[in-house]
Amino acid sequence: MVIAVLNPKGGCGKSTLTTNLARALQLTGRAVLIVDTDSQGTLRDWQAMQGDASGMPPVIGLDVKRLHTDLPLLAAEYDTVVIDGTAKMMQGLGLTVKVADAILVPVQPSAADLWAVSGLAELIHTRRKIQDGLPKAAFVISRQIAGSRLAEQIQEALTDYQLPVLDTRISQRVAYTEALAQGVSVIDIEPEGRAADEIRTLMDEVIAWVDEEALALEPTPQPKPARQPEPARVVEPCQASAETAMVRWDPDTAARNQRNYTHFVAFKAYDSSAA
Ligand SMILES: Nc1ncnc2c1ncn2[C@@H]1O[C@H](COP(=O)(O)OP(=O)(O)OP(=O)(O)O)[C@@H](O)[C@H]1O
Ligand SMILES: [Mg+2]
Repeated sequence: MVIAVLNPKGGCGKSTLTTNLARALQLTGRAVLIVDTDSQGTLRDWQAMQGDASGMPPVIGLDVKRLHTDLPLLAAEYDTVVIDGTAKMMQGLGLTVKVADAILVPVQPSAADLWAVSGLAELIHTRRKIQDGLPKAAFVISRQIAGSRLAEQIQEALTDYQLPVLDTRISQRVAYTEALAQGVSVIDIEPEGRAADEIRTLMDEVIAWVDEEALALEPTPQPKPARQPEPARVVEPCQASAETAMVRWDPDTAARNQRNYTHFVAFKAYDSSAA
């Protein structure tokens, strides 16, 4: 499962949602990878704040242009990949929408933030038309201010984009800023705090939302066609020797090649992000 956190608006809380959701999912026992597509490298800085054995989900920097080729190989070893989207570049958004199974769009409660997501919503709907209604996508109200009615107003206005708005909202809290600065999540700095509760509730809602839609997308079983009797066949003698079969499939070589390629991809990503 690839979850992309996207919004062309800077500062709306993409990296904050990515790190906290990824960590919450990891704490349920899932193997989670974070992919940082943002050239600012916020999450590689987040990772740099951690000690060697932090236990946080690993972060790999990947250029958006390489997502469609490299992500499937990287994702193979993980249950969930969370992509921290890049701001601004529309082409980057399009490439990320293509590889995602689910998209979360954090939106701050302001008119400017509401307008900023119209292009992304359009992009998602266009993709869904040609891809059997996928990827699934939902808005998450981010950085809501306690006691303000703005979040309700924005939640209502977002329905115009015809994508669901998750019930759980992320509030503006110091714990999020502190966690990002320390290279951890809000669950690590204050496990019983309100931010940690919010993130666990959000994660449960995301899991239910993803599963619900996955179930709805299960193809209806079709009755099998009646089997026709097969015509008699002439059996040719087998040409392949034991030796050629070995050349074709050697599990050790295949595994080694896969590992080398994964390292190569990771190195390339690091190399291009450092450029
Ligand atoms: N819910 C929150 N409460 C308090 N501070 C927050 C919250 N969400 C984000 N911030 C702070 O706002 C700043 C921007 O957040 P973040 O980096 O997550 O946004 P972003 O969308 O990834 O930005 P960019 O588009 O630049 O990548 C950071 O300093 C972060 O700590
Ligand atoms: Mg960011």
